[in-house]
Amino acid sequence: MTDPAPMWWQSAVFYQVYPRSFADSDGDGVGDLDGLTDHLDHLVDLGVDAIWINPVTVSPMADHGYDVADPRDIDPLFGGMAAFERLIAAAHERGIRVTMDVVPNHTSSAHPWFQAALAAGPGTEARDRYFFRDGRGPDGLLPPNNWESVFGGPAWTRVVEPDGHPGQWYLHLFDTEQPDLNWDNPEVFDDFEKTLRFWLERGVDGFRIDVAHGMAKPEGLPDAADEAEILRHTDDDPRFNRPHVHAIHRDIRAVMDDYPDAVTIGEVWVQDNAQWAEYVRPDELHLGFNFRLTRTEFDATEIHNAVQNSLDAAALENATPTWTLANHDVGREVSRYGDGEIGLRRARAMALLMLALPGTVFIYNGQELGLPDVDLPDEVLQDPTWERSGRTERGRDRCRVPMPWSGDAPPFGFSTSADTWLPMPDDFAALTVERQRNDPESMLSFFRRAIEIRKGRAEFQGGDVDWLSAPKGALIFRRPNLPGESELVCALNAGRRPIALPRGEVLLASAPLIDGQLPPDSAVWLTRVG
Ligand code: GLC
Repeated sequence: MTDPAPMWWQSAVFYQVYPRSFADSDGDGVGDLDGLTDHLDHLVDLGVDAIWINPVTVSPMADHGYDVADPRDIDPLFGGMAAFERLIAAAHERGIRVTMDVVPNHTSSAHPWFQAALAAGPGTEARDRYFFRDGRGPDGLLPPNNWESVFGGPAWTRVVEPDGHPGQWYLHLFDTEQPDLNWDNPEVFDDFEKTLRFWLERGVDGFRIDVAHGMAKPEGLPDAADEAEILRHTDDDPRFNRPHVHAIHRDIRAVMDDYPDAVTIGEVWVQDNAQWAEYVRPDELHLGFNFRLTRTEFDATEIHNAVQNSLDAAALENATPTWTLANHDVGREVSRYGDGEIGLRRARAMALLMLALPGTVFIYNGQELGLPDVDLPDEVLQDPTWERSGRTERGRDRCRVPMPWSGDAPPFGFSTSADTWLPMPDDFAALTVERQRNDPESMLSFFRRAIEIRKGRAEFQGGDVDWLSAPKGALIFRRPNLPGESELVCALNAGRRPIALPRGEVLLASAPLIDGQLPPDSAVWLTRVG
């Protein structure tokens, strides 16, 4: 039997748009959908296949849209439904698919369901859509268990009952304004199905599923054995990755199968390969984010292990591997690799490595410009993590600063207002799209070229990766092709000395070669007949 024809997303380059920070069309200092539509040609130039937009549905924005008050309407801040329709039409006209974030694990506390639950009081059906529990200790003064919020502080908040007295507590794995939904209540799935179909009928090409490993809670909500770290958790944390989450994914997939071209990409923070792979079984998610590269130092052994584990995990279910270096939660890779020139060099090298791999690639807006994380002053921080951690964790705003488009001073064409929702640093002047567009040496030109080669050449079609022997501090792999056909070789030098190039003809290098050798902190693609 031959393999079925590949789906569009199996080798796609996705571009993640953090809509607040991409482009502001109406001068309020916050990015919006018409701003994105106005700048789609940047994405056409870059050569991406699809975009993933972080949440744009109706929200009080306590967690910048991950607190959804109406999952089937677009927030006026982002331009409302009409702007969304304009975006879909304009993107599709340009051959770019559009995927959107959906947030099944929780709602906003402003959602009508939660408001109804508060008003209805203990023991009611309205409360059963969430996790309301009596407190422990005298007068229920203590939270029902010891779980912590991912953003810091307890995962429980006590409510004032309709009679005016302190009463039950409700669970929120994230901010107080993000109450967790009870997926054992069938209404929760029914409503989510409505949401999926609503957007699919309006032309979206798929969904990024927020906290896809989090919707199922353990029976009885037992205490956690260990104290959790802020913004991180382990595989055995009772708050996440419970086995019955897979039944939910199967139900979601059954809906998606009515739209066979659409894709789901789950946010799956699971480390163990076998457990991670369960999420991408043939009747669950199409794709799962594998975050290993976001947690990897610029070190050949670590990178090798991260890549091999990601490949192994996907192979367990014959699923498509996925690659991510940065996103709106984990920070920007330029800063992770040391900032400045060295950070940029390494980020380029890693981009080449990532784009050489089989599978689906995710680029985070600004990554193509080499944006670093930004040191922001305390008074502008907005991530709920900052306050909830008692101002010990600065949170994720550093990697959410708006995109610099043009000009020499903030707001760099992002907005007509100088008062952007996060301040833009002066040194973004060197990184604007305008500056980089016509500079053949720029990060932007480099990304454009790499994507063009990846899309255009047959060397990138096979699904296998073979590691070749490499000098200390370096790694080399090839994408084997049919005998007699050209194959791709990718070498990355994370060591301290230049290394000899593997045999082949250079297709693209992330830095100029030195005397025909690959310098430290760089990578190269070569083609050769295998
Ligand atoms: C996911 C999102 C993150 C958000 C959280 C709660 O981890 O990526 O940005 O804060 O879910 O919805």
